[in-house]
Amino acid sequence: MRKRVAVVGAGPSGLAQLRAFESARAKGAEIPEIVCFEKQEDWGGLWNYTWRTGLDEYGEPVHCSMYRYLWSNGPKECLEFADYSFEEHFGKAIPSYPPRAVLWDYIKGRVEKSGVRDWCRFRTPVRAVDYNEQDGKFTVTVKDLRRQHVYSEEFDHVVVANGHFSTPNVPAFEGFSTFNGRILHSHDFRDAVEFKDKDILIIGTSYSAEDIGSQCWKYGCKSVTVSYRTKPMGFDWPDNWTEVPLLQKVENKTCTFADGTTKEVDAIILCTGYLHNFPFLPDSLRLETSNRLWPLGLFKGVVWESNPKMFYLGMQDQFYTFNMFDAQAWFVRDVILDRIKLPSSGDMAKDSMQWRKREEKLQGPTEQIYFQGDYVKQLVAATDYPSFNVDAVNEMFIEWEHHKAEDIMGYRNNTYTSVLTGNSQPVHHTPWVEAMDDSLESYLGIESDSKKPALSSKR
Ligand SMILES: Cc1cc2nc3c(=O)[nH]c(=O)nc-3n(C[C@H](O)[C@H](O)[C@H](O)COP(=O)(O)OP(=O)(O)OC[C@H]3O[C@@H](n4cnc5c(N)ncnc54)[C@H](O)[C@@H]3O)c2cc1C
Ligand SMILES: NC(=O)c1ccc[n+]([C@@H]2O[C@H](COP(=O)([O-])OP(=O)(O)OC[C@H]3O[C@@H](n4cnc5c(N)ncnc54)[C@H](OP(=O)(O)O)[C@@H]3O)[C@@H](O)[C@H]2O)c1
Repeated sequence: MRKRVAVVGAGPSGLAQLRAFESARAKGAEIPEIVCFEKQEDWGGLWNYTWRTGLDEYGEPVHCSMYRYLWSNGPKECLEFADYSFEEHFGKAIPSYPPRAVLWDYIKGRVEKSGVRDWCRFRTPVRAVDYNEQDGKFTVTVKDLRRQHVYSEEFDHVVVANGHFSTPNVPAFEGFSTFNGRILHSHDFRDAVEFKDKDILIIGTSYSAEDIGSQCWKYGCKSVTVSYRTKPMGFDWPDNWTEVPLLQKVENKTCTFADGTTKEVDAIILCTGYLHNFPFLPDSLRLETSNRLWPLGLFKGVVWESNPKMFYLGMQDQFYTFNMFDAQAWFVRDVILDRIKLPSSGDMAKDSMQWRKREEKLQGPTEQIYFQGDYVKQLVAATDYPSFNVDAVNEMFIEWEHHKAEDIMGYRNNTYTSVLTGNSQPVHHTPWVEAMDDSLESYLGIESDSKKPALSSKR
């Protein structure tokens, strides 16, 4: 009987899995039946924006952590699908730091061309996955939200691709319950205009802190104060931007920091990261990890070592994104198709431990980029995923780090060369700080004419 594979989530990782199987089918392979369960109305994962926060119209936790005016925070040339260039999708070279809508269009374009939408069951969150030792099959229980119907089906394999930047990590600080202003986590941040003319406090020093602070600054907040636990970001920030040590307490609107300084603020935005969360998995199948480059328990970062019929995609902290998810999905596909033989569980754990030991010694972003680049190279070499110049992508990431250090509000004005087409990409028509319109039409320089067709359908 034809094998069945369940994929949990139709974000960039889950869609990479669908594309991987479809590409094998197109080359003549017999592939299993694939069913992708997606709790949202459409595919694209985090890139599928919604204004909603909290619970959605069905009472499900809202997945989206993206916000209006979000632009890519790394060059698109670093994430380009090796089998589908930006130039193929848009029909021309485009600037290097697209806004969310442009990247969503690109993600969707590839899978629409693959014709895999029929494999997806939308508005169908996975509620439970159980493994039956007797028959070696997984029972996957889901809820069809539109019909309010819970049902279960059997599968030979499960690929977990539900992302790990959606369940907020929310620390508490003394005085929060009596603060006279708004406290929110970056997961619920939607529109920087809300904070125009306001004094804001941001807690955290990673990408969300950097970018949400920059958005609020760009859209006219009065001041940005960033509170760090470990160390300040240290960029050359604008004049109305300060970095202070960790928040100690809040009294009314006054915040006191570890160095004794104080600041009165109108809103507090917790950019304190996310939790890996798999409410549908039992203890025996559930990955437990913080956000890091090498979670343990996953051979080659994807195979669940204690039950190698199950897989995870995209669970690492990410420099590499779309092309890494692809390399992972092609590897998982080839394990399922028996093209790749897995070693014993002891040897898998040994291999993972070697990566972990190297990860623990990494000093700073440059070494981290090389580490993840080596990981991607190893996966790409194991399958027929088109090879691409990972060394050149590593160097682009390092150049990107330098551009940020030189000009944190201007780094998105730089352009890079596609490692796929060899073409250098054009400079955007408007510097990032002046570009207030984040629409696809504005970015691509398409006149706002409703008769013009959308590049990818269902936008
Ligand atoms: C604010 C923010 C900005 C980012 N910006 C960038 C950027 O500029 N460039 C970049 O390369 N990366 C960026 N990222 C990283 C991002 O993680 C990846 O780009 C990518 O979206 C990860 O894909 P994924 O498929 O693994 O997860 P997700 O995109 O999170 O997709 C997971 C999917 O699983 C679905 N799902 C969840 N639970 C269930 C369930 N129980 N049943 C069924 N379906 C379920 C969700 O609805 C979702 O569609 C950003 C992340 C965040 C949070
Ligand atoms: N396109 C974009 O512009 C954009 C924008 C936002 C986010 N993103 C993406 O989103 C992903 C998640 O980024 P993220 O910044 O949300 O998470 P993250 O990288 O995991 O960083 C979490 C931050 O929270 C801090 N933190 C955690 N607990 C804390 C506590 N109790 N007190 C004080 N600080 C605490 C950490 O500080 P320590 O360093 O002290 O641990 C760290 O600075 C990344 O992949 C990023 O690229 C992209």
